[in-house]
Amino acid sequence: MKDYRILIIGASGLVGGNCLHYLQFQEGFEVAGTYFSFAAEGLYFYDTLNPGNKDNFDIDSFKPTHILHAGALTHVDYCETHPEESELKTVHSTRNILKLADKFGSRIIYISTDYVFDGKSGPYDEKAEVNPISVYARHKLEAEMLVRNQSGDNLVLRVTNVYGDEIRNKNFVARLIEMGQNHEKAILNLPVDQFATPVNALDIAKALHLLIKDNKSGVYNIASTDYLNRVQLAQKVLNRFPINDVIINAKETSELNQSAPRPLQGGLKSLKFLSDYPYFYFSSVDEYLYSKNL
Ligand SMILES: NC(=O)c1ccc[n+]([C@@H]2O[C@H](COP(=O)([O-])OP(=O)(O)OC[C@H]3O[C@@H](n4cnc5c(N)ncnc54)[C@H](OP(=O)(O)O)[C@@H]3O)[C@@H](O)[C@H]2O)c1
Repeated sequence: MKDYRILIIGASGLVGGNCLHYLQFQEGFEVAGTYFSFAAEGLYFYDTLNPGNKDNFDIDSFKPTHILHAGALTHVDYCETHPEESELKTVHSTRNILKLADKFGSRIIYISTDYVFDGKSGPYDEKAEVNPISVYARHKLEAEMLVRNQSGDNLVLRVTNVYGDEIRNKNFVARLIEMGQNHEKAILNLPVDQFATPVNALDIAKALHLLIKDNKSGVYNIASTDYLNRVQLAQKVLNRFPINDVIINAKETSELNQSAPRPLQGGLKSLKFLSDYPYFYFSSVDEYLYSKNL
């Protein structure tokens, strides 16, 4: 049996998927990834809302040392108009995962967000005061606090604006590249006043590997040094590739009629992580884009 047996909840998603692909090749690591509604190859079904479901992955045999909880209802505007479903999928699911961790003596790693802040004075460090301003954000903070209060050994990674390779190409950067590949015509109204620190999901996986091996606990921000608004992020993709069928319209957030309020000056500072790991290199959006071809 390997030293680190990592159960990944939400392995069909962007962050969980990258962690699965990276950690499974690291020495001493054994990894099992679960999906909730999107059955992808190599993943196991696990219903976090019904731990007694007879089709659930056999966690008893796997005996996880760590449970990476990267599952949540992540559509921010949908959460705003469906608060009960958001509570169920983001908070209640976490309560059930805490029970699992108790049963197996596993440490939990929870993926949280800069949306725990109100976006008045980002980018934020780990000690900044939280003040969530949307349903999604309140539920993410509630789940984060459940994990932190359960055990001081648990680990929380706060991330934002994650991009990278994923099965469904849902993330903003991957989706734009795909639109270029398919010559899709679109006019995108994008906020010029929502700033964050984009991070490649693969860098999250690499950072997590170090944190697990060193038995780190508590809250860590994981972010690159890019500080961009959505228009700037889209421009980087359009400058890299000849995507002529997508037109960007820069708008103020107030013009977009998004259901959920957004932190405007968001983003995270990774100084705590970088002082523990001064040689860790966070890649940039440009490096990701220049590693790709249309
Ligand atoms: N992407 C970002 O920019 C960003 C920023 C800040 C924080 N985060 C956090 O990072 C985590 C991962 O996000 P992501 O970008 O990888 O999102 P994603 O690609 O939308 O993946 C979400 C994952 O959650 C799973 N899921 C949904 N409801 C679930 C439930 N009740 N129980 C278990 N799993 C459930 C989904 O499974 P199925 O698809 O199989 O249903 C999917 O695997 C989330 O907690 C999110 O809040 C992401």
